[in-house]
Amino acid sequence: MSLLSVRDLSVSFRGPGGWVPVTDRVSFDVEAGTTVGLVGESGSGKTVTALSAMGLTRAQGARVTGQVLFDGEDLATLSQRELSTRRGATISMIFQQAIRTLDPAFTVGEQIAESVRRHERVSRKEAWRRAVEMLDRVHIPRAAERAAEYPHTFSGGMCQRAMIAMALACSPKLVFADEPTTALDVTVQARILDLLREIQRDTGIAVVFISHDLGVIAELAQHVVVMYAGQVVERAGVEELFLRPRHPYTAGLLNAIPAVGRGRRLISIPGNVPAPGAMPPGCRFHPRCPHGVTGRCDTGPVDLVEDVRCVRSGEVPLLGIPTPAGARS
Ligand SMILES: Nc1ncnc2c1ncn2[C@@H]1O[C@H](COP(=O)(O)OP(=O)(O)OP(=O)(O)O)[C@@H](O)[C@H]1O
Ligand SMILES: [Mg+2]
Repeated sequence: MSLLSVRDLSVSFRGPGGWVPVTDRVSFDVEAGTTVGLVGESGSGKTVTALSAMGLTRAQGARVTGQVLFDGEDLATLSQRELSTRRGATISMIFQQAIRTLDPAFTVGEQIAESVRRHERVSRKEAWRRAVEMLDRVHIPRAAERAAEYPHTFSGGMCQRAMIAMALACSPKLVFADEPTTALDVTVQARILDLLREIQRDTGIAVVFISHDLGVIAELAQHVVVMYAGQVVERAGVEELFLRPRHPYTAGLLNAIPAVGRGRRLISIPGNVPAPGAMPPGCRFHPRCPHGVTGRCDTGPVDLVEDVRCVRSGEVPLLGIPTPAGARS
């Protein structure tokens, strides 16, 4: 049995004219100790999926159906009180925009210590010791001194490290890392990715790494789940996905990977992700798809069959690329 098994997770938010579906029957598995990359353009439903798996959208009034089987229980059926004992301790999240997540009114050390004390019956002193240890663990220099400082004295990269420290302080079995490097410059981004790899090697934690950039996903993930307009459109092992993409959307994302000297022109996918509540009929990607065929792609719902959601799967040749240099083998 997988550590995490997300089954048919559908999320709707209440809009002015009624419920608006945002994700549609999202399913994927995460094995213990592995990294799954969740990829898709802005608005494809990656964050909503992660927040919903943690029970956080239900708390905001969203309608959530499906199952989130984690470590032997269905998180989708737990009460908010029950969930709050799991969050941080067994399943955790590194949020998009770390700087805004840290509370400016408390020192970084206090915030990490507080999250430890929420889950474990330890003294203030012990919680503080753990906070310093975690800051040191994420390579914050002079961790003992920095723990006593406020977030505004931390750079973007340091804030992100502090958030990672907080997410990992209670040794969870799985962490959702939601675009943890997107706001950072390229060098800092590379260091954070190194840190995540190192932590995973040392602790065996499972990671769901969320990014809109397949190039970044290739650095960390063994398996990839591609989302488009609230649906999973393809699932595959990372090498397989790069070499033989089976969905035109995946091929489009591969084309858009910024890589120096790959000898190919960078082409972003024309058009935009459709808004929730305004999905085109048939395949949700067909209005942007270079292989779309009238009468086949624009009618009826398209199901996920053998891990790909495309009625023309196998018919059209799609260009793959080797995983970028530096990718894990
Ligand atoms: N609380 C909410 N209420 C209503 N709609 C929402 C809410 N949260 C997200 N959405 C909508 O759900 C869709 C998916 O959003 P989500 O944040 O999951 O996208 P994403 O893939 O994480 O994008 P990004 O790469 O920009 O982070 C978007 O159209 C968004 O506007
Ligand atoms: Mg997001």
